[in-house]
Amino acid sequence: MTTTEQSLSSTSADVSRTDVHRPRFHFTPESTWMNDPNGMILHDGRWHLFYQNNPLGSDHDNLSWGHAVSDDLATWTHLPVALRFSEQEMIFSGSVVHDAQNSSGLAAPGEPGPLVALYTSAYTAAHPTRAGIQAQSIAYSTDGGTEWTHYAGNPVLDRDSANFRDPKVFWHAESERWVMVTVEAVDFQIHLHTSADLLSWEHASVFTHPEIDGGIWECPDLLRVPVAGSAGKSAREAWVMVLSTNPGGPAGGSGTYVLIGDFDGRSFTLQAPPRPLDLGQDCYAAVSFSGVGGNPVLMGWMNNWDYAHQTPTAPWRSSMTLPRTLHLEPTADGTLDLIQHLIVPEAVRTVDLGALSAAARPVVLDAAEPFRLRGVLSARTPHRLVLRFDQDDLARELVLSVDAAGQIVVDRSAAHETTFARDHGRSAPYVPAAGTEEVSFDLVVDRSCIDLELDGGRALVSQQIFPGASEATVHVEPGA
Ligand code: FRU
Repeated sequence: MTTTEQSLSSTSADVSRTDVHRPRFHFTPESTWMNDPNGMILHDGRWHLFYQNNPLGSDHDNLSWGHAVSDDLATWTHLPVALRFSEQEMIFSGSVVHDAQNSSGLAAPGEPGPLVALYTSAYTAAHPTRAGIQAQSIAYSTDGGTEWTHYAGNPVLDRDSANFRDPKVFWHAESERWVMVTVEAVDFQIHLHTSADLLSWEHASVFTHPEIDGGIWECPDLLRVPVAGSAGKSAREAWVMVLSTNPGGPAGGSGTYVLIGDFDGRSFTLQAPPRPLDLGQDCYAAVSFSGVGGNPVLMGWMNNWDYAHQTPTAPWRSSMTLPRTLHLEPTADGTLDLIQHLIVPEAVRTVDLGALSAAARPVVLDAAEPFRLRGVLSARTPHRLVLRFDQDDLARELVLSVDAAGQIVVDRSAAHETTFARDHGRSAPYVPAAGTEEVSFDLVVDRSCIDLELDGGRALVSQQIFPGASEATVHVEPGA
C-alpha cells in the first residue's frame, strides 16, 4: 500500500457502529454522492473501481470519477478522485481498458502499455463550442491508474448529440479491433464502433429492440460469457448485452436487462427475449470488469433513480451491489439460462437454515454485522421467511414470500425506520420453471444492502433497506 492510500481511510472493517446504514462489504463513497460504477478493471492483480462521484457534495452534480481499489473484492481502499469535472465539462460514465500493446501510442515507446479510460464528456453551458453535447473522450494512465492525463485530441468520438454516452470498450481478438458500445439514450439505440488504436473510431452498427422502450437507455455492456459444462475444443460461449433503462426497470423505476445473442465483431444479433438482470429495485448501470478471463464479474449501482436523492444516509449516498460472476447453462429446451453467483466475502457470518419449516425456532442475529442466510424454499406450499429487525420497540420487517403458484417476492415495504420509497415496496416476482419443487436461496444482509441469490443463481434480487436496527430475528411463517 502506498503512503497516499494509507493517509486516506478505508471503507472496510473499521466502519463505525454509529453510521448505522453503512454496509461493511458493499462499496460506499466516504462522504459524498455516488452513482454508476465506471472503468472497472482487474489490473496487475488489483481490482479498480471508478465511479460517478460528486467530490463536493451529496447530490448528483459535478460528475467526476471517484476511485477505489481492492485486493479481494470485499474491502476497498479509497484513492483520490481520478478524473475531475471542470467548469466546461462533467465526466460521465465509461470504461477502462489495458492497452497492453500500446496501440494508442499514449505510452512512451518501450514503456508498458497504458491504462486508457474512455468516458463521456458532458459539456456544460460554459463550453464555447459544444455546450449541451455529449461525446466520448479519453484519459490515460502510465502509473497503473493513479494519475490520469486527458488526451489532447478529445473528444475522440462526437455525433453532435445531446444524449450520446456511456462508452464500454473491449478488445475483440478475432477481428483485432477495439469495440466501443454506447447509447443514444433517448433514441433507444445502442451504437457499436470499432477502432485499431482507441483514438479514431468507425461506426459499425446500431442495435435496438422494440420491447425495451419504457425509458431512456444507459450504460450498455457487451460481454462474452462461457457456457458451463463445455470445455476444450467444444467450449461454447455466447454474447450477452447488458442494458440499463430509466424508468422501465423490472421492479419499477430504473433497472437492468440482459439480452443473450451473438456478436461478429461488428453487429450484435439477439437470440432470446430480454430478461431482467436483477428482480430487485436497486441494481442499475451494472457492467463488467475488464481484464477478467473466464466468467465475467459484474457489479451495479445499488440504487434507483426514482428515489436516489432520498436515501436516508448522510453525507455519503449509495452503495454498490456485491459483485457477481456470470455464466450460461443450457436448458432442457435448448436455450441458455444466465446464472449469476454472488461473490460473498468469507468473513460474513453464515447461517444454514436448511429446508424451511414453520416449526423451526427463530434465529437471532446481530443486525449491525453482515450475515448470510442459506436454505431451501418449497415451491409447493405458501410460506414466508420474515426478518424482523428490532430497535427501541419498533419492529421492521423484510419478507420473502412464496405464494400458492410458487412465485417468490421480496417485500421491503415495512423494513425501514422512516418512510422510504413508498411506491417501491416489492421486487418483481421470480417464477421458477414449471415442475420446480424446491428453490434454494442465499441471502446476504449487510445493514442497508440486501443481495439475494435464488434457485442456484437463476435470479438475483438487490434491494436497499433502512431498518437501523441492532438485532434481526429470522422467522418462518405459514401463508404467503
Ligand atoms: C446512468 C447515467 C449515465 C451517465 C451518468 C451520469 O445512471 O445517467 O447514463 O453517464 O449516469 O452521472
